[in-house]
Amino acid sequence: MRHSRKLLALLGLVAVVAIAAVGWLVLRPRGPADFASGTRVELADYREGDPTGVSPRLAGADLVMRGEYLTRAADCIACHTAPGGKPFAGGMAFPLPFGSLYSTNITPDKDTGIGGWSDEDFVKALHEGVGRDGKHLYPAFPYTSYTLMTRSDVLAVKAYLFSLKPVRNRPPASDIPFPFNQRYLIWFWNGLFSPGQRFQPNTGQTSEWNRGAYLVEALGHCGECHTPRNLLYGLSSGRKFAGAIINGWKAYNITSDPAWGIGAWSDAQLTDYLSSGHAEGRSSAVGPMGEAVENSLRFLSEDDIGAMTAYLRSVPAIRDSAGLAAVPTPPAQVPAAKAADSGGSGQSLGLRVFEGACASCHNFDGSGAVSVYASLAGNRTVNDAAAVNATQAILQGARLRTAHGEVFMSAFGTAYSDAEIAAVLNYVTGRFGANTSAIKPDEVAKRRTATMR
Ligand code: HEC
Ligand code: HEC
Ligand code: HEC
Repeated sequence: MRHSRKLLALLGLVAVVAIAAVGWLVLRPRGPADFASGTRVELADYREGDPTGVSPRLAGADLVMRGEYLTRAADCIACHTAPGGKPFAGGMAFPLPFGSLYSTNITPDKDTGIGGWSDEDFVKALHEGVGRDGKHLYPAFPYTSYTLMTRSDVLAVKAYLFSLKPVRNRPPASDIPFPFNQRYLIWFWNGLFSPGQRFQPNTGQTSEWNRGAYLVEALGHCGECHTPRNLLYGLSSGRKFAGAIINGWKAYNITSDPAWGIGAWSDAQLTDYLSSGHAEGRSSAVGPMGEAVENSLRFLSEDDIGAMTAYLRSVPAIRDSAGLAAVPTPPAQVPAAKAADSGGSGQSLGLRVFEGACASCHNFDGSGAVSVYASLAGNRTVNDAAAVNATQAILQGARLRTAHGEVFMSAFGTAYSDAEIAAVLNYVTGRFGANTSAIKPDEVAKRRTATMR
């Protein structure tokens, strides 16, 4: 009697959990833009202009030119080009916690690329994350974003890729151990984390917002870097754009929070940053973000950058000082540099390194000598008590091609010791930021291995 009651209770519990799980699967928000109020409709039922496709200025262009614009907006080149390799020929390594994955050759070479792929093959890869052999692709390939693209936009991308010169290059096969190499497991993962549907406009929002949502979510896949991942590698939907670590860099909080995100940036600062990689008094794009500007965002029309800005503004604020990538946003006014250090004897190591290696480009007041891009005052990177991106910038240097020419910072990783780099980091954050770092040389040594792979 007691026994059967326990059994019943247990069965009841199992039923409740099962119903809750099914309910969650059915009811959970599927689209990355589902935070916004309003009604989502199928694209065909949306009457406010088409949020998909290319910028209106290219409306009359041929399929290949439209495809080029979309391929840039989706930044396919970023991952499908190995360092020093031919564009789109693949071979870039993705070190995972278990083994390495390599991007594939997506030039139209018949043997080693996608030259033999049909339209259906290609659509299936971008919409479902399934390769030509029917096997699931790993979500390091952001099909979870591209699944939102319309079929005609996907085919325009294919037309552009097929217009390129085929490159013969067979990237290394991935070396991922059992059980993670069981690609069918990704099927379950997709059920949890891929929207698996096309973009649905929101009738409660402006047409500009909808265009921005398409650009940011379907093409730009900003969340792939800026949204933290959960234990199962899915993007954490409750922490959209709250900031994450990517290849040893902090991809900062870009929610609308004024203190921890970009809520205090003006529209002009945001559009300047996205289109040119520099926002006066705020930031210059370095590292993976510099690449995103150089390869992708700088080619987008002013309207499109404006739409992305409008959309980003609407992303719910996340005020979060605990996240791994959290760095407070400095005040907008460029702070007057702290009392000028005098040279001469008694100089700290950090000051000496700054004077010898940095001041010629950055100036002692951080205003930037060579270019506005080198201004450090007001920059979130020098406001980081962990000085993460500053370490990477110093180790790797920076180079950014923009419409105004190229800006450049030399790499100091080989010329300077861990102790010198730690000292200049602590000097720079102390001088230009509000959160002086206390980086030790062995921490610099650790960060070297995260970058110089
Ligand atoms: C963030 C990195 C990243 C971006 C951006 C990216 N890819 Fe990939 N892609 C990958 C990786 C990694 C793989 C290999 C996945 C695997 O083997 O499971 C891949 C695989 C593919 C495949 C399967 C090829 C094959 O031979 O099986 C296609 C097709 C593809 N990508 C096309 C594209 C297109 C088109 C774009 C832009 C719209 C794009 N990718 C953007 C990382 C990326
Ligand atoms: C490949 C990873 C990656 C992608 C994709 C990416 N970002 Fe970033 N983003 C970063 C990193 C890393 C930084 C920090 C750069 C730095 O320190 O200069 C950053 C910085 C930013 C900043 C400046 C924040 C600040 O306070 O300095 C903004 C704004 C931004 N990203 C917006 C976007 C938008 C919008 C997209 C999509 C179109 C996007 N990012 C896509 C990695 C990425
Ligand atoms: C040849 C000129 C030059 C030299 C030398 C130089 N920098 Fe830079 N630095 C720049 C430029 C230009 C940028 C912006 C690059 C960009 O936007 O891609 C920059 C960016 C930075 C950033 C911002 C990174 C971010 O994520 O926003 C930091 C921090 C920095 N430099 C520190 C230093 C330190 C410390 C030294 C000396 C060890 C130094 N720089 C030497 C030109 C230089």
